[in-house]
Amino acid sequence: MIDQIKSHIETVKKFNASSEKELEEFRISYLGKKGILNDFFSKFKTVPNEQKKDFGKAINELKQEASSKIEGLKAAFKNQQEEKGIYGDLTKPGEQIEIGSRHPISLVKNQIIEVFSNIGFNVSEGPEIEDDWHNFSALNLPEYHPARDMQDTFFIQTDPKDILLRTHTSSVQVRYMENNTPPIRTISPGRVFRNEDISSRSHCIFHQVEGLYIDKNVSFKDLKQTLMYFTEQLFGKSKIRLRPSYFPFTEPSAEVDIYWGLETETDYRITKGTGWLEIMGCGMVDPNVLKNVNIDPNEYSGFAFGMGIERIAMLLYQIEDIRMFYENDIRFLKQFKSVL
Ligand code: DAH
Repeated sequence: MIDQIKSHIETVKKFNASSEKELEEFRISYLGKKGILNDFFSKFKTVPNEQKKDFGKAINELKQEASSKIEGLKAAFKNQQEEKGIYGDLTKPGEQIEIGSRHPISLVKNQIIEVFSNIGFNVSEGPEIEDDWHNFSALNLPEYHPARDMQDTFFIQTDPKDILLRTHTSSVQVRYMENNTPPIRTISPGRVFRNEDISSRSHCIFHQVEGLYIDKNVSFKDLKQTLMYFTEQLFGKSKIRLRPSYFPFTEPSAEVDIYWGLETETDYRITKGTGWLEIMGCGMVDPNVLKNVNIDPNEYSGFAFGMGIERIAMLLYQIEDIRMFYENDIRFLKQFKSVL
């Protein structure tokens, strides 16, 4: 019988499985309940005493060999599976990547850019950290000019008060005119900063889009036509009115209102019962500003305008609180998923 065991040991040593199924069959035939090993163990009683020692040793050896063979082959199969190629199983369904959404500020900014690029405006940008010249002085706001108080400024350098966080994108007008010659048609979107209390209506950081058009013979009617085109494109409403206003860098200056209507209760609320909504400031570029950037005001004229992106986004998407834009609440941001 010992010889039988020994020949099994040889068989086990030589065994190789071509499939996991074959390996499993091999396992059952040796280690299974009714397998070869148990069969030998049960015959142990019948073995003469003087042979018991060798017999026991031989069975244990067979058991060892069979177990380690099985473990070894199992591991080999597993490795093979993992090595199926760097791409793994190409027929497996892919892992879903969650696609984010654009921020409503970016959505509206892109819409505004689109509308103006269709009539030949390019996009320009300037730094958020500005100097006094570009943010104030060149825009006809010399030191001690009372209009500086209209915008509470964050100064970075206080002695002298020269470096600041830009309070409006009008600073980009100056930079653009310094570096380009007319004709100029540019819009400048960007972030601006004001030392204001945070509430549902105002924030210390917000976004604006500036517009600038400089050429020969540009008149107020060009400004008005451009504004009508813009409001028609963005809001689907082209009825506007221009209210006389004051900005140091434009003369004359105006505040632009669009006629929103009074159809719903919300219309009543947001227009305070008038039907009109203020959306931006504008005017004809002041000759002093042109002089400051070495453009001859006798040869060239132009118009400029500036609007707040948050305000427009709030109107378009009926957002009630400006703070929503900055809180990164996923429940808010997710609502813009379908918009591009
Ligand atoms: N810079 C102004 C502000 O921040 C907005 C503005 C008004 C821009 C009139 C202009 C303009 O270009 O012509 O309130």
